[in-house]
Amino acid sequence: MAAAANSADRLLLFGATGDLARRMLLPSLCALDADGLLAENLRIVGTARSEMTDGEFRNMAREALEKFLPAERRGSMAHFLNRLHYQALDATTLEGYEELAKKVGPSTSADADGGLAIFLSTAPSLFGPTIAGLQHAGLTGDHVRIGLEKPLGTDLESSCAINDAVAGAFSEDRIFRIDHYLGKETVQNLLALRFANILFEPIWNSNYIEHVQITVAETVGLESRVAYYDDSGALRDMVQNHMLQLLALVAMEPPTSFDATAVRDEKVKVLRALRKVGASETVTGQYRAGAVDGEAVPGYDEELGKDSDTETFVALKAHVDNWRWKGVPFYLRTGKRLPERVTEIVVKFRCVPHSIFEATGSGLSPNQLLIGIQPEENITLSLMAKVPGLGVEGVRLREVPLEITMPDAFVGQHRRIAYERLLLDLIHGDQTLFVRRDEVEAQWQWVDAIREVWDDNEIKPKTYSAGSWGPSAAIALAERDGVSWHE
Ligand code: BG6
Repeated sequence: MAAAANSADRLLLFGATGDLARRMLLPSLCALDADGLLAENLRIVGTARSEMTDGEFRNMAREALEKFLPAERRGSMAHFLNRLHYQALDATTLEGYEELAKKVGPSTSADADGGLAIFLSTAPSLFGPTIAGLQHAGLTGDHVRIGLEKPLGTDLESSCAINDAVAGAFSEDRIFRIDHYLGKETVQNLLALRFANILFEPIWNSNYIEHVQITVAETVGLESRVAYYDDSGALRDMVQNHMLQLLALVAMEPPTSFDATAVRDEKVKVLRALRKVGASETVTGQYRAGAVDGEAVPGYDEELGKDSDTETFVALKAHVDNWRWKGVPFYLRTGKRLPERVTEIVVKFRCVPHSIFEATGSGLSPNQLLIGIQPEENITLSLMAKVPGLGVEGVRLREVPLEITMPDAFVGQHRRIAYERLLLDLIHGDQTLFVRRDEVEAQWQWVDAIREVWDDNEIKPKTYSAGSWGPSAAIALAERDGVSWHE
């Protein structure tokens, strides 16, 4: 593929030997290469602390691709691996950055804009020193853009410190904050569903919607991220970013166009309209030993090797205080070691104002729209229909699903890794699916206030058995309002 205007012709990956690089970034780049979506002159330089030659880095990458990318998506691995180069770096000292800049090399693009895209997937403590090093080596000019992987801080204050450090070297239009949920196909599809159809928008408000549920359930436990996770917990790890982005996409006003400023302007308004959560509107939990998928698994404390008050589950009742969403609760829940891996949004509509079928004894269920994000990508609208028959005893009605299964609707399309979309957009300089500073800060502000409520009210995680849907208090949180979590 020829380079598009404003495309980077060099990609510099920090944290290139890490878990994210091996599982997601290198496989995504290879898949893009296989589909001919990377410009022929794109050169990829990896950097991390370990000493390695280009050859060793390519071997590491080959192993990662064989493990994490299905064979049919690899294309010519040799073609991709030839793009890779490596330079070891101690990111905390300035010395190595000049060598790194040499390895990155000058632009080879005929286009004067041939730029450099940097992807930072390192510990947040390295962000500051890395930015200083990049500046020192002249790797922060006008044609350089930078992608930042989470966690971007642990609260508003630390997030502002990181954002300030980055802003010292890069203008906002060159900063690409990653929330990989925005790279997921069905998450983007939410925008298409809402704004490319006339059907939903007129009823997408408190007159017709009774409540919204957003669930991000995982079966995994701590995995290998002991230190990170115990300092973070479910609220910072999942709610602050992914779940709030989903909520913002559900609740935002129609943007004037699908471009970075218009979309992000609307999302930030929602994030700023989030009401402070009260003590009775939040439940936290931590898993104990139990069974997931029929296998016995240890409790969080045992996995961690010490006692901890970190939450592995959160359920919340949120409100967006604006005209459209007045009085519509948004129930959010996320947790580790839940019975199944599922990310979904459920929009529950109100009942019809008057049932003409009441006399027949046939009850009506309110309509419901379910947007399955993973593992199934589907959209299901539940409708009431008449049960076939002569109705001697009166008309009988039943709920039936109108279902679109995305892979069936789009046969022949690959299921893409979220990072394919995001890396491609970083290389091309499109910020629409990246999070702007004001969004991140609004997210932290809301989440910090929740932590404050927990502290002030001494709210500690309640236990739940691994393989269950969290503490019973989470079920009660919704049931108090006559709502059942979708399962
Ligand atoms: C990450 C969290 O951001 O998202 C992890 O740090 C979590 O704890 C992961 O497991 C979930 O991502 P996905 O794409 O598997 O839903």
